[in-house]
Formats: sequence, structure tokens, C-alpha cells
Amino acid sequence: MIEASRSDAYPAAACRVDAARMEGGTERLLLRPLTLADAPAMQEHFPHWEIVRYLLAAVPWPYPPDGARRFCRDTALPAMEQGEAWHWTLRLRSAPGAAIGMVSLFRRGEDQRGLWLGLPWQRQGLMTEAAAWANDVWFDTLGFDHLRVGKARANTASRRLSQRQGMRLVATGERNFVCGTLDAETWELTAAEWRAWRAKHPPRPA
Ligand SMILES: CC(C)(COP(=O)(O)OP(=O)(O)OC[C@H]1O[C@@H](n2cnc3c(N)ncnc32)[C@H](O)[C@@H]1OP(=O)(O)O)[C@@H](O)C(=O)NCCC(=O)NCCS
Repeated sequence: MIEASRSDAYPAAACRVDAARMEGGTERLLLRPLTLADAPAMQEHFPHWEIVRYLLAAVPWPYPPDGARRFCRDTALPAMEQGEAWHWTLRLRSAPGAAIGMVSLFRRGEDQRGLWLGLPWQRQGLMTEAAAWANDVWFDTLGFDHLRVGKARANTASRRLSQRQGMRLVATGERNFVCGTLDAETWELTAAEWRAWRAKHPPRPA
């Protein structure tokens, strides 16, 4: 079993609301709070086996034709309103019209950051930029003292991202993913560790 979470931080309510409305940017990306208008782009880019296979089995598969709209309307947007989760779409600065992926932060549980990127845009370092931006929000805007993320051990891209951004493996176990029951890992990063990493890897200008 993956070990239980340490205590949740409770940042100020005003801070949570501000984060839900916050837009951001990295060298190549714009990050905008998720809206219902993003559902068609999500429906196009998310339901692909290479994207969903290592996500938790809670993701419906086969993915229903209205899956993205229902996820936005019934799960993601209410959680943002309640200050329980924060979801941002990723857009290329060079083509800001459409969402190409998403980065999410979750206040509770063992999976405090989630990410996916549409297949045509993978392996170009884009999620490395977006994840670093999300870590800054998690620690500096929301004020949490540690970040924990779970993943399938077989998810090489996700493991590399965690390794490269200074996270530590803190627990192992088994979990149910879309592709079945697999070895799973939990990786952790403290605010102090993140700030030390950031000092050596400052954001690059757009
Ligand atoms: C995880 C994911 C968001 C990474 O996005 P990305 O923009 O392609 O990642 P980056 O280009 O920033 O690369 C991050 C690291 O992963 C490596 N990587 C990326 N895709 C990989 C792949 N398919 N196989 C092996 N390594 C891969 C990169 O080489 C890089 O490592 P490096 O810094 O040592 O070179 C993307 O693969 C994805 O959407 N996967 C499906 C959803 C998912 O599994 N989300 C995570 C759940 S825990």
C-alpha cells in the first residue's frame, strides 16, 4: 500500500480563489484556467491510449463521446470553485487558440499534481516547463509545504519528469491504472527542495 499523506496545508481562502483565476506563462506556453469551452479540445486530444494507459482506473475507458464535457462540468469546474483543485489548459504561445494539454493541482490525497499533453506536442520539453510553473504555484502562491505525486512505475516519461525536477521516491505499492494493476510509486518534493532546484533552474524568458 502507498503510505498515507502527511497533513494538508490550508492556505488562505482568498489565495485559493486567486489561484483558480490565475493565468500564467512559460517560455513556450500559456496556462489558462480550465473552462467548459475547453471541452472540445480535450475531447480531441485526451482520449488516446498512449495518454490514458498509465492514468488511474477512475478515468473511463473506452472514453465516452461527452467525457471531456462531463469531466469539466461535473468534476473539474466544481472542484475549482470549492478550492479543492486547480486546472489549467496548456496552449502554445505560437498558437494560443486551442488547448493542447492540462496541468492540475489537487489539495488533498496522494496525487497532488496531474498532467497530460496531446501526442503531437510530447517529447519537446513542454511539460517540463508547465510542471515547473505548476510547482511554483503550488509552493509560492498556494503555500503548501510538500508536493506528492503518484505514478505507475512503468510511466517512464512521468518518472523522468519527477527525477529531473528534484523529486524523491518515497513509497511504492500497487495501484489500478487504466491498463491494469501495476507497480506504483509516490514521489515527493518539499518547498525547500523546490526552491533550491529553482535557484539553479530559473524560468527562461518567453
Ligand atoms: C508525462 C507527459 C505529460 C510528459 O510530457 P512531455 O512534454 O512529453 O515531457 P517532456 O518533453 O518535458 O519530457 C520529460 C522527460 O520525459 C522523457 N520522456 C518524455 N516522453 C517519453 C517517452 N515516451 N518515453 C520515455 N521518456 C520520455 C523526456 O525525455 C524527458 O526526460 P529528460 O529530461 O531526461 O530528457 C506526457 O508523456 C503525457 O502526457 N503522458 C500521458 C499522461 C501521463 O502519463 N501523465 C502523467 C501521469 S503520472
